[in-house]
Amino acid sequence: MLNVGIDIGGTKIAGGVVDDTGAIIERARVATPVDTGELADAVAAMVHELASRHEVAAVGVAAAGYIDRRRSVMLLSPNIDWHNEPLRAQFEARIGRPVTLENDANAAGWGEYRFGAGQGSTDMVMVTLGTGVGGAVINDGRLLIGANGSAAELGHLRFVRGGRPCGCGQNGCLEQYASGRALQRELGDIAEAGGIGERLAAHRDADGIVHGPDLARLLAEDDAGAVEAVRRVATALGEACGAFQAVLDPDLYVIGGGVADLGEVLLEPTRLAYETSLPGFGNRPTARFVTATLGNDAGMVGVADLAGLRSQ
Ligand code: BGC
Ligand code: NA
Ligand code: ZN
Repeated sequence: MLNVGIDIGGTKIAGGVVDDTGAIIERARVATPVDTGELADAVAAMVHELASRHEVAAVGVAAAGYIDRRRSVMLLSPNIDWHNEPLRAQFEARIGRPVTLENDANAAGWGEYRFGAGQGSTDMVMVTLGTGVGGAVINDGRLLIGANGSAAELGHLRFVRGGRPCGCGQNGCLEQYASGRALQRELGDIAEAGGIGERLAAHRDADGIVHGPDLARLLAEDDAGAVEAVRRVATALGEACGAFQAVLDPDLYVIGGGVADLGEVLLEPTRLAYETSLPGFGNRPTARFVTATLGNDAGMVGVADLAGLRSQ
């Protein structure tokens, strides 16, 4: 069975025809239009194009934000300007067939659970560290949706009382401490403070960004400023996972998104913070931490698979 999966990101829409082993048979991508109507047009054009060459059973679309229980309406997307947007209806009207809508991180988590780093787990939590922080919870083999569709918004765990303001309208959310943006903020703070930040300061571009390859090089050379910035982000992530453990008791955390490309440099201090904050540590089994293996394809593959399962 072949299904189409479409992953709407902030800068690009990635699509693919996916078989039931999670393999991508054909790919497509375009820049993400800002206007929602144009975005729906672009998604429909991509689906039509892919479906013209393959026998497609079902279509799934993944996007960031809170989706209602019926998987139809985008209630709120903290980092995109969507409020109460009937996305599913907009897609179906243009595509002319049923569409499954799913949260981007839920889709990625499902993809990793079925075909990637989460295979063999029964209770898995995925945390995606990108522009925002996304979450997915697999509970006893099922994707957790919630009574109103918005379970597993792990990035909006309120984590610091009276902390930094967040796009969701709250403050102190994990997203403000462990996302790609948060990492850049820590890098910037350390660079500006001088001392261990001296080398970091020399690697910031005109917008104050330290790019991935430069950061990787500084970390490989054990630069104290770079190591400290990653440690701060990892500490927030690990402490949050300690809290997730209290609620969900997973056997595995899969860490994905751009920041997870740092690999063990990120995971090691994350595990330490997790253990340090875990209730009952020493007297209970702990979960494993691994990085995602499907990379940018996880959402596309996961939402294609979910579409196939939901259409049966
Ligand atoms: C949104 C989530 C999304 C995550 C990653 C968060 O800000 O609330 O719905 O999964 O960003 O894109
Ligand atoms: Na989610
Ligand atoms: Zn928030």
